[in-house]
Amino acid sequence: MLIRVLLVIEEPKLRQRLEGLFERPDVVVESPRGGKFLWERASRLSADVLIVQEDLIPAPVSESIAAQRALPESPWIVAMVREENAEVRARLLAAGCEAVLPASLGDAQLQAVFATVLAKRSELSVTRLREARPAARPSLNDFVSQSPAMQAFLGLVRKVAGSESTLLIAGETGVGKERLAQAVHHEGGRAQGPFVPVNCAALAESLLESELFGHEEGAFTGATRSRRGCFELAHRGTLFLDEIGEVPPHLQVKLLRALQEREIRRVGGEKGLPVDVRVMAATNRDLEGEVKAGRFRQDLYYRLSVVTLTIPPLRERREDIPTLAESYVRFLRARIGRDVRGIAPEVLEVLQNYTWPGNVRELINVIERAMLLCNGETITIADLPLSIGRPPAAVLHHGGNGNGQAHANVSEVPAEWLGKPLREVRQLIVEHYERAYLAGLLREERGRIGATAARAGIEPRSLYEKMRHYGLRKEDFKKKVS
Ligand SMILES: Nc1ncnc2c1ncn2[C@@H]1O[C@H](COP(=O)(O)OP(=O)(O)OP(=O)(O)O)[C@@H](O)[C@H]1O
Ligand SMILES: [Mg+2]
Repeated sequence: MLIRVLLVIEEPKLRQRLEGLFERPDVVVESPRGGKFLWERASRLSADVLIVQEDLIPAPVSESIAAQRALPESPWIVAMVREENAEVRARLLAAGCEAVLPASLGDAQLQAVFATVLAKRSELSVTRLREARPAARPSLNDFVSQSPAMQAFLGLVRKVAGSESTLLIAGETGVGKERLAQAVHHEGGRAQGPFVPVNCAALAESLLESELFGHEEGAFTGATRSRRGCFELAHRGTLFLDEIGEVPPHLQVKLLRALQEREIRRVGGEKGLPVDVRVMAATNRDLEGEVKAGRFRQDLYYRLSVVTLTIPPLRERREDIPTLAESYVRFLRARIGRDVRGIAPEVLEVLQNYTWPGNVRELINVIERAMLLCNGETITIADLPLSIGRPPAAVLHHGGNGNGQAHANVSEVPAEWLGKPLREVRQLIVEHYERAYLAGLLREERGRIGATAARAGIEPRSLYEKMRHYGLRKEDFKKKVS
């Protein structure tokens, strides 16, 4: 992990000297300016270690240090004093400084102390990451379910999890394909090895090849250094090929060869490198259909689909929605710092009746958003997006009489709205219509991202993000002719 060091030093010479003392690749040094407000400024920048000129710490010193330590990163503080003074040192250490160093020390000595502090800090980050992970670490238990469809599915997963076979994970967007792959990796025999995901749709053809197989120095313009590919990185672990349906034909050939021979060749490379990798691939396309249409090689398809696991969409396992929703309320509570404790029963009912085109990802977005909007401890209907919570007509029906005398009837606005600031209500309305507008455009453009983005006047990437957010899938618009 990258360690961030913040220099809170006003004295130009000392600052310059300290800036030159850090040259480790895993350390980023920031040296903001801020005059006498520098200490205050420092608290707005996230850092792991603060190196501070002692006279910049505002009095009372112990309180200032405690406040800085209470930040989310709980940064360590190293105080620089002009000269050694036992009393000052004792006071600063007692206040919570990690170390107190006189500026009169030589560069080598300072460097040695900083190196120790940074090494200790970096060790702490690793431990913290590891401790933070178990809760979030995907496990097959996440998929335990009340629904018969899912129980049958999980039975099959458990049978193949421990094997070495190639897996093809299918299912709509947001159903948990990547999460399942991680869970299988963690519970199989390769758990100690790396899990390396590659999104085959995110890279241009030439880059994807080098991403997967690596390249030799000088293999193409710009390849100034050789680079290891994901197959090499995943050695003794699992390679997760996401959106496999997007791999272009000539790479499909190369991929098939790698899977069959368990050997890869870097771009521009002469000799084959043996690799020990378990491959899992995922797709939200109908890969068999792609084969029939001649866009995906049949031999590769057979190779990948030895075992195909199709995760059922959320609407086919409605029983699981309350459990999932509630578990995300617990998970997000600490993350977003909102003390939301539960979900009202009528909300659970609405959630269970919605179709969830974006599946679990959409559900998580809805829950997170509801928690942010929620005024109390319980999520209510008013905290749901309009598209899920209630038909829009009931909300935006204007009681106008055509003479410009709109009888704005308060009862036409959901009562809960009146308890919210305009900013939040405005967002509810904007989101509702933004979704409807984008769906309308997508329908007319039959799901073509480029054309839709151009008409909306936004970047395709930004359209894609919005579609994810609203659970809109281009496949759903392909067939429909408006
Ligand atoms: N059973 C589950 N329990 C808890 N969280 C889940 C579960 N299934 C999916 N999720 C969460 O839902 C989100 C979407 O899952 P994931 O990214 O694995 O979906 P995906 O099928 O790969 O989607 P896409 O096709 O869009 O890439 C993630 O945040 C994931 O952690
Ligand atoms: Mg995915």
